[in-house]
Amino acid sequence: MCGITGYIGGREAYPIIINGLKRLEYRGYDSAGVMVFDGKEINLSKTKGKVSDLEKITENKNKEGGIGIGHTRWATHGVPNDENSHPHISNSGELVIVHNGIIENYATIKKELISRGYEFKSDTDTEVLINLIEEVKKNEDCKLGKAVQLALKNVVGAYAIAVFDKTNPDELIVARLGSPIAIGVGENNKEFFVASDASPFIEYSKNVIYLEDGELAIIKRNKGIKVRKINTDKEVDTKIQKLELSLDQIEKGGYDHFMIKEIHEQPKAIIDTYRGRILGNEGIIRMSGIDDNISHFTNANRIIIIACGTSWHAGLVGEYLLEELTRIPVEVEYASEFRYRNPIIKPNDVVIAISQSGETADTLAAIKLAKEKGAFVYGICNVVGSSIARETHAGSYTHAGPEIGVASTKAFTTQITVLSLIALKLAEAKNTMAKDDINKYLELMKQIPEQVENLLKIDSEVKEIADVYKNAKNCLFLGRGFNFPVALEGALKLKEISYIHAEGYPAAEMKHGPIALIDENMPVIVIATKRGHYEKVVSNIQEIKARSAKVIAIVTEGDTTIKEIADHIIEIPDTDEIFTPLLTTIPLQLLSYHIAVLLGKNVDQPRNLAKSVTVE
Ligand code: M6R
Repeated sequence: MCGITGYIGGREAYPIIINGLKRLEYRGYDSAGVMVFDGKEINLSKTKGKVSDLEKITENKNKEGGIGIGHTRWATHGVPNDENSHPHISNSGELVIVHNGIIENYATIKKELISRGYEFKSDTDTEVLINLIEEVKKNEDCKLGKAVQLALKNVVGAYAIAVFDKTNPDELIVARLGSPIAIGVGENNKEFFVASDASPFIEYSKNVIYLEDGELAIIKRNKGIKVRKINTDKEVDTKIQKLELSLDQIEKGGYDHFMIKEIHEQPKAIIDTYRGRILGNEGIIRMSGIDDNISHFTNANRIIIIACGTSWHAGLVGEYLLEELTRIPVEVEYASEFRYRNPIIKPNDVVIAISQSGETADTLAAIKLAKEKGAFVYGICNVVGSSIARETHAGSYTHAGPEIGVASTKAFTTQITVLSLIALKLAEAKNTMAKDDINKYLELMKQIPEQVENLLKIDSEVKEIADVYKNAKNCLFLGRGFNFPVALEGALKLKEISYIHAEGYPAAEMKHGPIALIDENMPVIVIATKRGHYEKVVSNIQEIKARSAKVIAIVTEGDTTIKEIADHIIEIPDTDEIFTPLLTTIPLQLLSYHIAVLLGKNVDQPRNLAKSVTVE
């Protein structure tokens, strides 16, 4: 969580940092701050609230200078207020820091620093870190880079930091452990950009260095970058990567919100995800990550899927897909539980980790644990070059493009697309399906993008339904089989952006508890596709109607039975049951979106959340 930016070079730093923070606001948005150095003075502004609030308070301030750092915060230590906002400045007033992460042993260090006369204005771990760096610099009489390195050897936790020293203003020090840092390299090494991801500087540089865990970079204006290992002091040969991201990919492109833009991008995102992987009409699936490691999968006794949030829901769909098509037993685990419960990993177990951001701390820690226990770990990530993509033995990218709305939409459908391809590929490799059947599935998959495109035309219809139910206090989402995870995902979408309490349940479980909640004030959204235990779900709808609740049913087009009993129906195009999650999820995304907009909520930046959860 938290986004950090920095600039050093010949341009004015302030506008670059502010625009960068706006692009990183998805990482946290409860306070923001900026520091620029005009050659004489440190000018530091910070405030509770968003980057737009920060801009307001800097309106009449001196913002000049070619070096600076900025921060947008998701609070961990201390409530979101002006004092706890970053940047933090050291007691001498010379060193300034922005930090993304958590210093776990900050309390012990703080006590020690207080005993040496240091004073603290905030409740943050970050103010402790900058004063520790100051203390080391003073005691060792060394330069900032060395002081940061020595100080970091004494901290436990996770960090991505950028540090500035007024006494040496042609230099920025950045370092990472567990939280990402990208460094944009300008032409002829004259200017450099620092950020939590590359989006803040794509219009200035396509050359990027991603620091690895345990690395520290000394960035000098007009000179260049030196990267060292924090623990061994060994110099690292850095690799410059070419960015493929473009500006229009990270802008709203005429939509009111990123979320609705991303919902509408799904047809293209799904095509981009299977493009180049389904070859011709011959039913050949090429996925180099699987091809190069096929024996791990064909010999697998079990597949364990680990993920969080929406990615975990995609993992549940993956369980249904993989077990149905390959007959390999699958378990799906919350990464946060897996990492702390001494899980049993047997020889030949394969672990699949799913993450949009590729930075989720719990998933990353679970991957490391699975590797330690000898598992082969396969990643499914959206963000290219992310920590999870690099930490896993092999993997497949979803090609959804940048997802900026905090509520995940196109990441979910593209993760299911990759899982479908993996399941079909393994079915072929393990001979659990006839070649003709695999071909039929692939042909159906190729129809999905157009079906999603058509489905998106129901937008205004869904908006009308949203208007009817926008004031509900609770909602229930029910589904069975492949659509049980979609019910969970529908409930998550609604609660995270509209703050309406919602629960997802397997439809048949309703009578084991949730039915007690059902009355005329409870809207129930039921996924009732033609091929998914249809008769059983119809009975569930009857049970709900018998208790006077309102039913919004997601049905296969042409359904007449449910039309008679439900209060509203939303039709999805017909496909095989295994692909229905790619369609049934669309109206649920639209429903949550419209309810949240009608309630006046900030759909792209819901309260208390952040896009990339890099703390546990
Ligand atoms: O980046 P990841 O896929 O690892 O993120 C996992 C969850 O934090 C994420 O899916 C979260 O639940 C979203 N806000 C859901 O919309």
